[in-house]
Amino acid sequence: MSAAPSVYVGMSADLIHPGHINILERAGELGEVTVGLLTDGAIASYKRLPHMTYEQRKAVVESLRPVSRVVPQETLDYVPNLRELEPDYVVHGDDWRTGVQRETRQRVIDALREWGGELIEVPYTPGISSSQLNASVRQIGTTPEIRLGRLRRLLDTKPIVRALEAHNGLTGLIAETTEVDRDGRRVEFDAMWSSSLTDSTSRGKPDIEAVDISARLQNVNDMFEVTTKPLIFDGDTGGKPEHFVFTVRSLERLGVSAVIIEDKEGLKRNSLFGTEVAQTQSTIEDFSTRLTIGKQAQITEDFMVIARIESLILEKGMEDAVTRAQAYIDAGADAIMIHSRRKEPDEIFEFCRHAEGFSKRVPIVAVPTSYNHVSEEELADRGVSVVIYANHMLRAAYPSMRKVAETILHHGRSLEADQMLSPISEALAIIPENR
Ligand code: SPV
Ligand code: MG
Repeated sequence: MSAAPSVYVGMSADLIHPGHINILERAGELGEVTVGLLTDGAIASYKRLPHMTYEQRKAVVESLRPVSRVVPQETLDYVPNLRELEPDYVVHGDDWRTGVQRETRQRVIDALREWGGELIEVPYTPGISSSQLNASVRQIGTTPEIRLGRLRRLLDTKPIVRALEAHNGLTGLIAETTEVDRDGRRVEFDAMWSSSLTDSTSRGKPDIEAVDISARLQNVNDMFEVTTKPLIFDGDTGGKPEHFVFTVRSLERLGVSAVIIEDKEGLKRNSLFGTEVAQTQSTIEDFSTRLTIGKQAQITEDFMVIARIESLILEKGMEDAVTRAQAYIDAGADAIMIHSRRKEPDEIFEFCRHAEGFSKRVPIVAVPTSYNHVSEEELADRGVSVVIYANHMLRAAYPSMRKVAETILHHGRSLEADQMLSPISEALAIIPENR
């Protein structure tokens, strides 16, 4: 008796629904089913990180009746697994004939032709989809623990993690929900950045640690009420080491994933002033102590304390930056943020080259505010793991609000400003619960 035909089904299986079962039942009728379960990395390459880890998803899929075995599919592209397994059939929903997956489908058909395999397409199950389920999950929200751990999961799976500045519920919602198609792939922000510059500016205050931690946390809380994505917190200098302990614990309790503290002390001014204002860099010893105390204070495993090096901002040279990075890593820093205010990214790239020789490889964080022609791809190629768009929501809003205020004054009425505004219906629709 000849062996049963082999059948391959590729899936993410994050939120299993009747559509998936329908496909697997059909596959089971055709023969012995191998599920190519997309790894976190494969999924994150084209959409948001799955809710469940690979191991959790594997446990669910393995227990489904028609499934004989589960193998990892490391890429969105099926072809490497197909060439290895040479299945008689591939079964997929017919909803991939158009849109981003069209090319993937064509590659499957071409590969199957090599050994006479066949693609079977099952009609799409109407009324249910992963996107709908994802939207519902988003409405239900997340827990502090799950949100906190998400940054490390993203770092493990994505070539570069993309964070957008947010300073209130509304900008948090923008970071949460904005997505576009870039070269056939859906792209969105992975995380939020709570910036001291925009948190203080939106309160009409200077960026000198004058907004206290309770007020900063209130903003984080507002954002967390309406979002599920992880957040990286700008901790300025971290304050007194004795106080930093409480900051770390409060951040963790809320579900913040990481705090970045910078190696400066005394009256902290914004880095983008560079050497135009007096700023004092901490000694390596003092700052290392702050980092160690922060690391000892954390309760969870996943929270990250990230060291931010100001040597390039303060024109102390590359050697100083590199020496400090190694010392901060030895003191327990989970990642290094290297800052620059040059128009060109060359000093960031040079730092990345040195980072290859550090005793321990940790993620590198870059904030390309001044060297903003550099692309995420270029940064990732050089070894940067996190890119932060640090102040863009606030800088977008300010000129627009100013212009409208001036226009009203010029005309003694608001009619002329109307074209610069969202219609009231759109303004209401920004918040889903208003609809
Ligand atoms: C912030 O966003 O507050 C930062 C980054 O610290 S920078 O403004 O470039 O110093
Ligand atoms: Mg700051």
